[in-house]
Amino acid sequence: MSSSADREDLRETLEDIRSEALEAIQEAEDAASLDEVRIRFLGRNGRLARALSGLRNVPPERRPETGKTANLVKQTLETTLELKVDELAALVEPEERPATDLTLPGRPRWKGGVHPVTRVIDEICEIFKELGFTRAAGPEVETDWHNFTSLNIPLDHPAADMHDTFYLDEGVLLRTHTSPVQARVMMEHEPPVRILAPGMVYRRDPYDASHAPAFEQVEGLAVDEGIDFIEFRAAIDYFVHRFFGPETRTRFRPSYFPFTEPSAEVDVSCIICGGSGCAACKRTGWVEIMGSGMVNPAVFEAVGYDPERYTGYAFGMGPARIAMLRYRIPDSRLLYEADAGFLEQFA
Ligand code: PHE
Repeated sequence: MSSSADREDLRETLEDIRSEALEAIQEAEDAASLDEVRIRFLGRNGRLARALSGLRNVPPERRPETGKTANLVKQTLETTLELKVDELAALVEPEERPATDLTLPGRPRWKGGVHPVTRVIDEICEIFKELGFTRAAGPEVETDWHNFTSLNIPLDHPAADMHDTFYLDEGVLLRTHTSPVQARVMMEHEPPVRILAPGMVYRRDPYDASHAPAFEQVEGLAVDEGIDFIEFRAAIDYFVHRFFGPETRTRFRPSYFPFTEPSAEVDVSCIICGGSGCAACKRTGWVEIMGSGMVNPAVFEAVGYDPERYTGYAFGMGPARIAMLRYRIPDSRLLYEADAGFLEQFA
């Protein structure tokens, strides 16, 4: 055999090895016969290794090219072998597989979260804590004296109409607002008083996208010597900036509550559109966040505080409405229905 024939032979041999090996791999029926193919062609003393020992007979200038071909054949065979290993593994009957399926994803643990309304209440309390306010609590089952009379709402006053409620007994009712906690705290403590009272209140309200017959309120009350409207506004502004962001504006609108004089509704510039007008603010650019005012001296008289000596301010807000604004919740019923799919978003 001439040396030029040898050269051609090596290229041809490699080509033969490639096609024979590929056929053998395809025909292998189990891992053992596949291993045998691997050894026969790619082993240390296999067909490919033996063919390559002929490389030294190839003239130097053609060696790189032949070497490249040999590498290509080797890579092709290795890749095909790997694929065949997977293919064969997939064919194994289920009962032959290991008892523990390590490819199964783990069971995720259910993570509970703080309800969005509770989260808002806690944040409100945290911010007012910086201004010296502590938390207070009062009963949800109240006397009509605490709920109405002490707060300068005669029972036959039209203001009591809005607060029609569930009576449990003569003079005993489900409180319609958290304001009776004001009276309870003032009857127990001398000024200065700075409290926040979060809790449930009950009203004869429908259950729809923006109302519920039972909902949360957060009451605020500050009483001391020398508290004026300026301090009141400063406290509210401080809260609004801390809670909604420094760019949020505040607006006080004259209003009426029997237990405050003067009274105001506090609006903030809409946190969704920034004040230009959108569906959330009914195109007004403002959303109401609380009722408020300077404590009416008649309330001080009812609880035994000297109205000549003390002044103060009070406010009441609805954290559910604030949560709806902040988290863009379109229907308040979502807040009361304990739907885990909805609540999980707040985990
Ligand atoms: N209690 C009032 C309400 O429920 C809100 C309010 C609280 C207004 C304190 C003024 C001062 O509507």
